[in-house]
Amino acid sequence: MKPIYVTSPSLPPLAEFIPYLEKIWESKWLTNNGQFNKQFESALADYLGVKYVSYFTNGMSALQAGLHALRLSGEVITTPFTFVATTHAIHLHGCTPVFCDIEPDTFTLDPDKVEALITPRTTAIMPVHVYGNPCNHEQLQRIADTYGLKLFYDAAHVFGVKKDGVSVCNWGDLSMLSFHATKVFNTFEGGALVTNDSAMKQRIDYLRNFGFKDEVTVVAPGMNGKVDELRSAYGLLQLKYVDGEIAKRKKVAEHYRNHLQGVPGIKVLEDIPGVQHNYGYFPILVDGKIYGICRDQLYDRLKAAGIFSRRYFYPLCSQFSTYRGLPSAAAGRLPVAEATARAILCLPIHAELDENTQDIIINMVTSKGQL
Ligand SMILES: Cc1ncc(COP(=O)(O)O)c(C=O)c1O
Repeated sequence: MKPIYVTSPSLPPLAEFIPYLEKIWESKWLTNNGQFNKQFESALADYLGVKYVSYFTNGMSALQAGLHALRLSGEVITTPFTFVATTHAIHLHGCTPVFCDIEPDTFTLDPDKVEALITPRTTAIMPVHVYGNPCNHEQLQRIADTYGLKLFYDAAHVFGVKKDGVSVCNWGDLSMLSFHATKVFNTFEGGALVTNDSAMKQRIDYLRNFGFKDEVTVVAPGMNGKVDELRSAYGLLQLKYVDGEIAKRKKVAEHYRNHLQGVPGIKVLEDIPGVQHNYGYFPILVDGKIYGICRDQLYDRLKAAGIFSRRYFYPLCSQFSTYRGLPSAAAGRLPVAEATARAILCLPIHAELDENTQDIIINMVTSKGQL
């Protein structure tokens, strides 16, 4: 059997990409605000239903530019249950990440636990819509407004996700997206910042291009976060296919749910009412006492059979050497996140995962990996 990886990137038909390449070769305009770059940003804004998008070379650089654009300092309240880029971006910006526990059902930042962590040094809240589950925005925005904090969403997982018909990328002061190869929508590598404020968009675009305002004026210590015409053109083409890809992922998620619901010791997540999901991940929770073997045993048995599930997000970011000495990282202060990190397993999901292959994975889970 060929190895089954946790995901597999969707690529558009190669023949359809050739005309884009021909145009780039003809124009010899390779980067720096090219035609495809402008077209892609505007097409993305239309697709996402937001005002402004700034396309970045990856999600991490978008996070770093966003922290600069918001002029954050001091402490930033965030979740430990995320990919380490969220925490690193805060740290590399010179801020201290303050870890807050998560909700047991959506695994997103628990707003009821945020206020107790606010100090005079707090400048922002940085939640993550983990697995594409939208955070409890109303409550988080209320807290941000009450305490005069910025709200910067790590929206790496929510491409195309809507709540009550509105893109969740509209929430807060800024949202950051990732178009990494493993994401629902990829441009090989890539990311974006989303804002509805034109002055903020302008500032972000200066920061993305070394801080240049014009040929002779540098307004800020900016980075090189801009993207070339190749990936911009590819992104434009990818947008035509993304709805179809999400529809196929939905079928895969439904097939898993139909067969794994009710397996003792395995918890499967349901769609959240009012949310249009993108099915980027298929997380299950393993309760070893009921299931019979623990999460890591299941992970190992799947791996031995060539099925590469992932323990996203284990260990918690608060456990990594840079952060584990922080007071907010102390054991027992993040009980829901700690329990979730011990039980979570993301099963393979992507648009091309056929039912036969999926049934092999399902049978492995239902038989505790003893097929
Ligand atoms: C939650 C989260 N934040 C940030 C990132 C970083 O994005 P990128 O890999 O595009 O730099 C990722 C994914 O890689 C992610 O999953």
